[in-house]
Amino acid sequence: MVDDSILRHGDSLREVDEELSDYGEIEELELDLLLEAIYRLRGFDFRHYLRSSLRRRVRHRMNLEKLPTISSLLGKVLHEEGFMEKLLEDFSIKVTEMFRDPEFFLAFRQKVVPHLQGLDELRIWHAGCATGEEVYSMAILLQEEGLLDRSIIYATDMSKIAIAQAKQGKFPLKRMQAYTRNYLQAGGTREFSAYYKTDHAYAFFQPEIKGHMMFAEHNLATDGSFNEFHVILCRNVLIYFDPELQSRVHRVLTDSLAPSGFLVLGGKESFLSPHKSSFAEHAPEERIFRKL
Ligand SMILES: C[S@@+](CC[C@H](N)C(=O)[O-])C[C@H]1O[C@@H](n2cnc3c(N)ncnc32)[C@H](O)[C@@H]1O
Repeated sequence: MVDDSILRHGDSLREVDEELSDYGEIEELELDLLLEAIYRLRGFDFRHYLRSSLRRRVRHRMNLEKLPTISSLLGKVLHEEGFMEKLLEDFSIKVTEMFRDPEFFLAFRQKVVPHLQGLDELRIWHAGCATGEEVYSMAILLQEEGLLDRSIIYATDMSKIAIAQAKQGKFPLKRMQAYTRNYLQAGGTREFSAYYKTDHAYAFFQPEIKGHMMFAEHNLATDGSFNEFHVILCRNVLIYFDPELQSRVHRVLTDSLAPSGFLVLGGKESFLSPHKSSFAEHAPEERIFRKL
């Protein structure tokens, strides 16, 4: 509701509304220019990310830097060394946890692992792995199921910082209590603390768990397939993309899966046609699909 006191002589509420939506259009144009500049200068393509989420990230950076307009932010992106990197990291939302959605990990253990037992080599891809908590969870599960020794877990993210952190395999000690609960709900039967050593602030996961992981930068918006996998997890990444980009990613993931391979999406994510028809719903509640 517009406060009447801001109306100038002769203005009507309708005119003010139009003025506000004009400003919205200018902001949208500025955002387009910003995303185009990032793409042309660095090849990171955010042009098909959901605008609502991007706008929040941009406003957050503008507030931190006390910048009045998106154009002033663009000026810094173009001319200030290191500023682009800050913004790229702002666009990477790295919320994650170990054994996130424990019911998914339980379903994976019960409904997917039996189909993997016969493989001589198991290749898994975590696409959009953030800081790696999901990857270490999977490695623990595979070790408990006797599969880790013949597994290679590829884990990728567009964020350089996330990948560097994931490689370290150290997570804040204060989160271990919650992660232990998740682990138990996910069907874990051992002492969770046996998997890591601690100092006063961090839990450091064992080298045996880390040994089967390969971390790399990979961008789902611009890069293609790089191997054939038996399992691909791409959870809580597609929610940030518009349908066109989701469809691109579905194609990359579908092309990267071996026949009868498993694809796992996040709880709020679904498959778009035409790729949907290449899959059977293996455990639909837990968003586990199997390639036909
Ligand atoms: C919310 S986290 C999800 C982490 C983990 N998969 C999970 O479910 O806990 C989303 C991750 O997707 C990554 N991401 C976003 N866009 C991406 C892209 N185009 N290519 C690769 N990773 C991307 C972000 O950097 C972030 O680390």
